[in-house]
Amino acid sequence: MNSSKRYGVERRQFLKYMAAVSAIPFSSCRTTSPVITRPQFEDYPFKLSVASGDPEPDGVVLWTRLAPLPLDEGGGMPSEPIETFWEVANDEAFRNIVQKGTAHAIPQLGHSVHVEVTGLKPAHSYFYRFHAGVHTSPVGRTRTAPAEDSMPERVRFAFTSCQNYESGYFNGYPHMVKEDLDLIVHLGDYIYEYGGVNNRPRKHIGAEVESLDEYRTRYAQYRLDRMLAEAHRQFPWLVTWDDHEFDNNYANLVSEEDGISPEKFLVRRMNAYQAYYEFMPLRRRSFPQGPQMTLYRSCKYGRLANFNVLDTRQYRTDQPNGDRQKPMVGKALDPRATMLGEQQENWLMKNLINSSATWNIMAQQVMMAPLNRGKGEDRRYSMDQWPGYEVSRRRLLDFFHQRKIPNPVVLTGDIHVNWVNDLQLDFKDDNSPVVGTEFVGTSMSSGGNGGNRITEYERAAEQNDFVQYYNSNRGYVSCDITPDTWTTHFRITPFVEKPGAPLINEASFLLKSGIPGVKRI
Ligand SMILES: [Fe+2]
Repeated sequence: MNSSKRYGVERRQFLKYMAAVSAIPFSSCRTTSPVITRPQFEDYPFKLSVASGDPEPDGVVLWTRLAPLPLDEGGGMPSEPIETFWEVANDEAFRNIVQKGTAHAIPQLGHSVHVEVTGLKPAHSYFYRFHAGVHTSPVGRTRTAPAEDSMPERVRFAFTSCQNYESGYFNGYPHMVKEDLDLIVHLGDYIYEYGGVNNRPRKHIGAEVESLDEYRTRYAQYRLDRMLAEAHRQFPWLVTWDDHEFDNNYANLVSEEDGISPEKFLVRRMNAYQAYYEFMPLRRRSFPQGPQMTLYRSCKYGRLANFNVLDTRQYRTDQPNGDRQKPMVGKALDPRATMLGEQQENWLMKNLINSSATWNIMAQQVMMAPLNRGKGEDRRYSMDQWPGYEVSRRRLLDFFHQRKIPNPVVLTGDIHVNWVNDLQLDFKDDNSPVVGTEFVGTSMSSGGNGGNRITEYERAAEQNDFVQYYNSNRGYVSCDITPDTWTTHFRITPFVEKPGAPLINEASFLLKSGIPGVKRI
């Protein structure tokens, strides 16, 4: 898997070339082809519903995608740009419209629409909808972030990750939408790239996805899931990706499989990133430049919370020691190894230093606590997670400690089970100070029903003193934060292999501002 690293120079030139040829200038779309202002569709064009995201105090991104035949190549759309109209109102009946405008759904972006609305009031709920031709979209509901200098009394959000369509139904979402939330955070593995397999609860369309059209179809298949679409329709989302939006366990330009040329891998990454942008309610700052896409960003909820949304896939060095579970030696301790890349790490540290927030959140993918999963003296750590990048990991924890960053909270996905971890400055020293807390969400559906005994993890929970909680059910995590307290609820769905699971609050934990370490409540 390391062989492709030798293509250094060509790789960089290729990257520049790809970025240059594939960047689609937004403004030129208006002038190059005639826009269809009164489109006719062979079926309802809003089957993929609506979404909103990346809230700011004065606005949000509104999203839709025109596709009368969402699972067909091209979505059943002509190859011309289509004019759409959007409206934002205070009420669900749209009597009191506060903002409106037009936006073009262009074929280069699969007729997706991303509107960055401004001029809205902070910490305010709104309704929105789109029109195209004679058709009107479902009505979405969204909420702006609180004013930058305000101290909100409370902010509530849920986070989840890892929703393999084939493994089961997204049974957490119907419960999530009943909660009174400001925001939903998705930590990646929104889709899985694998080809369809028989005899599972559901089946992916087609083989493993590689082309732009294949990624688009895969996202469309997921978004046609009513439970997922409904969660998008009801709340603004803050999204980041993990590996499966592109390819399992990839690191930057390195494929998990041997013998994939970086050029071929980059073309696939460009397809994957573009489809992700097309389907997510993202701002223009995240617009893909060929095979590169800046997804790391911050989202402030007044002086209460600052979400630092991270990308631990695009810029990382290759997994050391051949990936998988290995002792923390050799390349795992390489000081040049990086999880975030220099630019993102500097951005994060600057953001943390300048933050006036009570709670400083890192919404990211892989586990930060160094979980030893080995037996006895044979200590083993996941080389795909932060312990495979131990110098990077320590640098960040040192930074939390030395710069006295207020209440760092790390939110994690990827691993398909729940954990609560004290983040200790030096995990080899029991008396080392706790400098942050990590809440790890389980999967929404990946891995099937869950709740089973996983010997390796049970042993790990036992032998790693920093672990405060472990659970193998499926579900999501709900967080309720105030200026003094952070409460995390681990919500579980006892099954996912059929729809209609109840919701159980499996455990809750309390953090007090300024006091490191969680308490089970
Ligand atoms: Fe996953």
